[in-house]
Amino acid sequence: MLLGNDDWWRDAVVYQVYPRSFADADGDGTGDLQGVRDRLDYLARLGVDAIWLSPFYTSPLADGGYDVADHRDVDPRFGTLADFDALVADAHGKGIRVVVDLVPNHSSDQHPWFQAGLRDRYVFRDQPNDWESIFGGPAWTQVEDGQWYLHLFAPEQPDLNWDHPEVRAEFRDILRFWLDRGVDGFRVDVAHGMVKAAGLPDVGAKDGPQAEMLGDEQVPYFDQDGVHDIYREWRPILDSYPGGRMAVAEAWVSSPERLARYIGPDELHQAFNFEFMMADFHAKSFRAVIEKSLAEAELVGAPTTWVLSNHDKPRHATRHGGLARARAATLLMLALPGSAYLYNGEELGLPDVLDLPDELRQDPAFLRRGESRDGCRVPIPWTAEPGCGWVDPWLPIPAEWTALSAAAQEDDPDSTLNLYRAALRLRRRHPALGGGTLTWLDSPEDVLAVERHPGLVVVLNTGERPVRPDVAGEVLLASGPLEADGSIPPDTAVWIQRSGSSPDES
Ligand code: NOJ
Repeated sequence: MLLGNDDWWRDAVVYQVYPRSFADADGDGTGDLQGVRDRLDYLARLGVDAIWLSPFYTSPLADGGYDVADHRDVDPRFGTLADFDALVADAHGKGIRVVVDLVPNHSSDQHPWFQAGLRDRYVFRDQPNDWESIFGGPAWTQVEDGQWYLHLFAPEQPDLNWDHPEVRAEFRDILRFWLDRGVDGFRVDVAHGMVKAAGLPDVGAKDGPQAEMLGDEQVPYFDQDGVHDIYREWRPILDSYPGGRMAVAEAWVSSPERLARYIGPDELHQAFNFEFMMADFHAKSFRAVIEKSLAEAELVGAPTTWVLSNHDKPRHATRHGGLARARAATLLMLALPGSAYLYNGEELGLPDVLDLPDELRQDPAFLRRGESRDGCRVPIPWTAEPGCGWVDPWLPIPAEWTALSAAAQEDDPDSTLNLYRAALRLRRRHPALGGGTLTWLDSPEDVLAVERHPGLVVVLNTGERPVRPDVAGEVLLASGPLEADGSIPPDTAVWIQRSGSSPDES
């Protein structure tokens, strides 16, 4: 059977689809579920094990869909529940699992509970405290009769009151609703949120945005012990369904030890490892993060996750300073033990779009604190014709992206698309690549060299001069052209099969 393994998530390559920007089947300028369905062959050919769909639920899109008005329906802009069912059926038929986003910390202000004035389901107070919104400004908005409600994100995203039993019951039911429709897992949004410290104490004086002050201390609205009770309620639900249903936490907490508390046989299966995404492009930084992540994985008995890009951070081609570095970082990531999360468009080497006109930016964070995540959310270029396969897309696609389109890269053996395909093909051929341990090999300070399952060596050169790999063997894959003498140029990574070892041994 195609989807037989319950532990699939441990070494899976999961492709994040941002539905609004992925592919537009009905030509209204907004991507949709049918568009995803139409591209399943592309995703199967890419070689991913699963897709994670960012929210497609009924929503005013005040925060790109992370403001959910109906957790059990599809926004008409994205399609219908029938489209969703057809997508899951087709994906499963092609051996691709489907993970959906769950947004439990807050709802949309258009949610029927908020609209009906059910204030006990939210956090209303007569006086606000000093908490700040992640998107900037106070986390409280006053309503007509003088009360204030809490919103850790935009005012259109009131925080739910997780002390209320009906909020808890509702989310248990939402889990079952999607599990019954066949989803393989959930990405839990703001998994460190939901429970707030009793009495909502002030944070007190701090410099800069509070939530970035996590450091060694905690803020009273994140990573509270009580949140673990929720996951202990959810896990038996996931476990009661066949086929390895999982949950991955989006949790920004102060230390790997705190993150580890979210993972385990009675809580969630894994958590995003954002430290890898935040590491500088330098062998030393990558090594430090990898060592820390592996130690943490050991602590919880579950392999870690690796992420280089997502819909909240500048794409790694821009963040790391160019495509060569992005390709090199990707080859490193795809050879590490654990699961890897790819963000739609990174397989085309897309950069962030830095010059979007302000009036077109839609990220609520832009309006409140001048920072915008729109640059990594520009629609995916499919065709090499002007417009890249989109008619009047919700964010404009740069004209030069025709050259980066999937069509333009299809037959170019050196394209980023074909690099990703080749890496994922090799990863499948070496089942041990996603698991097992790694051994550090001696290398200069700006070179990272690791041996994966016996015989497969990964070398990344983040220095300024070419380096000769200290390993005899066949280069299976390189992120860019090597020197004539086989040296690895700066900003390049290679996978080498040691002479005398076989690619299929594990
Ligand atoms: C994290 C999501 O990834 C982000 O896009 C969203 O704005 C916040 N959570 C609020 O839901």
